Amino acid sequence: MFTRVARPECIACGICQLQAPDIFDYDNEGIAYSKLDQNKGQRAIPNELMSQFKQAYQKCPTGAIKRRDVPFHLTK
Ligand code: F3S
Repeated sequence: MFTRVARPECIACGICQLQAPDIFDYDNEGIAYSKLDQNKGQRAIPNELMSQFKQAYQKCPTGAIKRRDVPFHLTK
């Protein structure tokens, strides 16, 4: 599983960093990104972080957290 934040859709609510602090962080404006690989979505989420990823994914109020079965650069 791969993830990245669609940053224009993020409203800086803070939930993902609380739910998945090993995956998501914020820039100076509070907009989230995946710190696994600077929001590229090319590095697989480690298995041990999948439970916190799922919590963040399900609770993001805007759906800004995206996920794919393959790296994002291989998808449209
Ligand atoms: Fe933004 Fe969603 Fe996280 S709105 S701060 S990506 S929970």
